[in-house]
Amino acid sequence: MRPLGWLRGLFLTVLLAGQGAIGIDLNVNDPESLKSAAALSASIMMDYYNARESRDIPGKLDGTWWEGGAIFMTLIQYWYFTGDTTYNAAVSEGMYWQKGKDNDYFPSNYSNYLGNDDQMFWGLAAMTAAELNYTENAGEPSWLALAQGVFNTQVPRWDPDNCHGGMRWQIWPYQAGYDIKNAVSNGGLFQLAARLAVYTGNQTYADWAEKIWDWSMSTPLIKNQTWTVADTVSTENQCADSGDIQWTYNYGIYLFGAAYMYKFTNQTVPKWKIGMEGLMNATWREFYPQQYGGNIVTDFSCEIPKNCDGNQVLFKGFLSAWLAFLTTLQPETKDIIMPKLQGSAVGAAKQCSGGNDGKHCGSRWYQDTWDGTSGIGQQMAALAVFASNLVTEKTQAPLTSNTGGTSQSDPSAGTGTDQSSPAQLSKISTGDRAGAGILTGVFLTGWIGALTWMIRGG
Ligand SMILES: *[C@@H]1O[C@H](CO)[C@@H](O)[C@H](O)[C@H]1NC(C)=O
Ligand SMILES: *[C@@H]1O[C@H](CO)[C@@H](O)[C@H](O)[C@H]1NC(C)=O
Ligand SMILES: *[C@@H]1O[C@H](CO)[C@@H](O)[C@H](O)[C@H]1NC(C)=O
Ligand SMILES: *[C@@H]1O[C@H](CO)[C@@H](O)[C@H](O)[C@H]1NC(C)=O
Ligand SMILES: *[C@@H]1O[C@H](CO)[C@@H](O)[C@H](O)[C@H]1NC(C)=O
Ligand SMILES: *[C@@H]1O[C@H](CO)[C@@H](O)[C@H](O)[C@H]1NC(C)=O
Repeated sequence: MRPLGWLRGLFLTVLLAGQGAIGIDLNVNDPESLKSAAALSASIMMDYYNARESRDIPGKLDGTWWEGGAIFMTLIQYWYFTGDTTYNAAVSEGMYWQKGKDNDYFPSNYSNYLGNDDQMFWGLAAMTAAELNYTENAGEPSWLALAQGVFNTQVPRWDPDNCHGGMRWQIWPYQAGYDIKNAVSNGGLFQLAARLAVYTGNQTYADWAEKIWDWSMSTPLIKNQTWTVADTVSTENQCADSGDIQWTYNYGIYLFGAAYMYKFTNQTVPKWKIGMEGLMNATWREFYPQQYGGNIVTDFSCEIPKNCDGNQVLFKGFLSAWLAFLTTLQPETKDIIMPKLQGSAVGAAKQCSGGNDGKHCGSRWYQDTWDGTSGIGQQMAALAVFASNLVTEKTQAPLTSNTGGTSQSDPSAGTGTDQSSPAQLSKISTGDRAGAGILTGVFLTGWIGALTWMIRGG
């Protein structure tokens, strides 16, 4: 933020004190009002993007890599709902820049530190681009092929040796979190597989989606009585216990995937309907507190203790966008979903009353006055919920190859010969794992080259 002269600062403070209670004046029933709220949130989000230290590297945000994919996914949805092409050049530049040598969003600059979920958000962004007919540049792989590249690199990481299956959170044994199998990594591959199945009609993707779902249900990650979604299980005790902290995106990622599977099976398989409805019921119960009217989403796990980090402020933006598109897949859900999107947008609009300009968004949408926080993530979540409300104007389901989607399929995308292909890791022996633990010390002293060589060689 630019420093202000004290007088100007004082003036603005007085001015904004009056504005503070107003925020964005939003009418959720007026598409133009929603569009202008979304445009303002997007513009401030891109101010952050353009001011980042790593601005020489398209798509790379400071201190985080995955969030670039998340932001582009949201901007693609924004373009789709509003027709505003202002940010398309930046989106395309970043989406292609970060695609990696093998077209799998596993670029070698960062791949030594990435988790499956990090890679997945870029894959879901590419899938979104394919489904929404987002422009493809000549000479580049198709959006569909890039999504398939992510699928193809993740599937070999499936780990049947621990907990009878599941995706680990971290890919590399030297990363903290390698022992964890988490909801967002498994739910992410589940959702991508389900969407690829619907887009391409290829049964192999549906088989994988079902396998990941069944495995998740066989662990405490998804409890089929209450439909609560845990955050993590651990290979240390064969996934018997779970880390139960509650996050909106964990529910959304499975819920949206289940809706695709219900569509893929032509609404004939009860399992997907029950899963979809059960997860929706649990989502309302957990994240839309009755004390605020029951329609405003909150990631209460961090919002109540006021310690949301830069990742966590994004989560309810993803849930909101997935709920919006869910109404296009299963229109009978519209009556229950739209009030939740509208209530949340009204709450978010009140939060967009902060910062130097009185327009930056905070995060606690249930609170009437600006919560004092601001950042690129707060902007993304607000943008997502404003744009999502425009789904009433765009009710067509995401495209498939049968309904006009033209993104070219490449079933073998991402299976290049890059030596860092983590497929090798799924066969790593216990001895290698212990070795990698010891190598962590070497890693920390900065022998990165030696480490990657040894891991790749092993
Ligand atoms: C990788 O790092 C180099 C050096 O900083 C940079 O020029 C390049 O753009 C980066 N590539 C990606 C995909 O981030
Ligand atoms: C529900 O979970 C229980 C306990 O894990 C399991 O035995 C049962 O088969 C599950 N039912 C369904 C429909 O998945
Ligand atoms: C769904 O319906 C379509 C069109 O009738 C058909 O081609 C497809 O095989 C069906 N899929 C399943 C899983 O039943
Ligand atoms: C979801 O809630 C509705 C309404 O309360 C109920 O009818 C339905 O049985 C619930 N579905 C599941 C799978 O829990
Ligand atoms: C996709 O976009 C192209 C222009 O980029 C357009 O010609 C085509 O009609 C669109 N397809 C659909 C199904 O909207
Ligand atoms: C379906 O997907 C699988 C897995 O990627 C691939 O091996 C197969 O060739 C695909 N089939 C078709 C007809 O594209």
